[in-house]
Amino acid sequence: MSKAKILIVGSGGREHALGWKLSQSDEVSEIIYSPGNGGTEEDKGRNISLDGTKKENFPTLLNFVETEGIDMVVVGPEAPLTNGIVDYFNYNGYDRIFGPTQNASQLESDKFFSFDLMQETGIPQADGVKCYSTDEAIRAINRRTTKRGIVIKARGLTEGKGVTVCNSREEALIELKKHSEKYGPEVLIAQRLFGQEFSAFGISDGNKVSPLEISLQDHKLQFDGDKGLNTGGMGAYGPVPVASAEVVRYVADYIMTPIIQRMKNLGEYKGFLYAGMMMTKNGVKVIEFNIRFGDPECQPAMMMLKSDLYESLSLSLEGKLDQVKMEFNPGASCCVVLASPGYPESYQKGRPITGLEDASSIEGIKVFHAGTKKENGQIVNSGGRVLGVTSYSPLGIRDAQIKAYEGASYLRLGNESFHYRRDIANKALK
Ligand code: AMP
Ligand code: GLY
Repeated sequence: MSKAKILIVGSGGREHALGWKLSQSDEVSEIIYSPGNGGTEEDKGRNISLDGTKKENFPTLLNFVETEGIDMVVVGPEAPLTNGIVDYFNYNGYDRIFGPTQNASQLESDKFFSFDLMQETGIPQADGVKCYSTDEAIRAINRRTTKRGIVIKARGLTEGKGVTVCNSREEALIELKKHSEKYGPEVLIAQRLFGQEFSAFGISDGNKVSPLEISLQDHKLQFDGDKGLNTGGMGAYGPVPVASAEVVRYVADYIMTPIIQRMKNLGEYKGFLYAGMMMTKNGVKVIEFNIRFGDPECQPAMMMLKSDLYESLSLSLEGKLDQVKMEFNPGASCCVVLASPGYPESYQKGRPITGLEDASSIEGIKVFHAGTKKENGQIVNSGGRVLGVTSYSPLGIRDAQIKAYEGASYLRLGNESFHYRRDIANKALK
């Protein structure tokens, strides 16, 4: 049998990590990225210039997939899923595409939808009220704010930036105005939860969700100590001490599986499923669902995964998740994101990156690329989050953290250092 060619839609660190892991399968001959980045042409990789994340490119992408004889398509980011890439491919007779349908994607794209679904299914979440207008939101804030604060959540997709956590009623009323100017008047006013956050990931075959038995923790804010602006994620590590493999299995069996089953008549869910969780005094609660892998959580997750990812995804596409047994390495992994100075606000692009070889030569380090591209044979930055220096250590999180920072110390952008947080994984060491 000839070996499989896989197409990955997207260009970030998550896509690089997925492709790197898939490339390790003996069954796989090539990983094609649409469009990929400056690092994705290693490890059986090839980039095509077509950007498959854009809806207008779905027809050309499908044509490419058929002509090239692509065995499996894996969709990284939420935008193409929300825009119906899976429905489009399925409708045109191609069913080896891993991701949820457009209807099922509402789980991430519509916070009202996921709130209702969790309520109907009896899944633990923050109490909340759906507000369709600013007047309703003001009333809800006045009625529901307690001395512990309140949370405002935009209804739609906001690239992870649409949540404002407020300490008081006064602050919430001021923030609501700014919030609705940016993200529209429809908001969920939610109870503020306290506890340690972790992310749980699963693979769904449409009937059942199997967990990745490693919990992960993102660091969303720009600066050390969770200060500054919200970003796409400045680093991640796993496993998270508060969430054992048993907790993650619980999330898959009693939270994720009921959710995809409840949605079945609406739209099929084959793909990665991400639950943002809070470990509260009263047990685990869902903060949000996403219909894809997390970025940067994917990078340490792929370092921890021991078994063949291609085999797991293939069986999931065939609805045979029962036959999947994912295995994980002992120890821990830590990913430090190196960002362009100025990110998430404005920053300069096109600056040369040095130190890649030195960082990559450390044992147990993989440097995943995100906002990079090749220009005249040189790797330059092309985005805000540039690299994810990711370590694996069988000895545990402290050693993984030391390694990741050693790797990061070699890397430079032009004649400057990158911006990165120095406290990734510190919460695990407390
Ligand atoms: P989300 O985009 O829903 O993941 O929210 C972004 C961040 O806002 C989360 O990672 C939490 O830190 C915070 N957050 C969201 N909902 C709540 C809540 N109900 N209580 C406390 N913090 C929250
Ligand atoms: N790391 C957060 C996200 O992928 O949404």
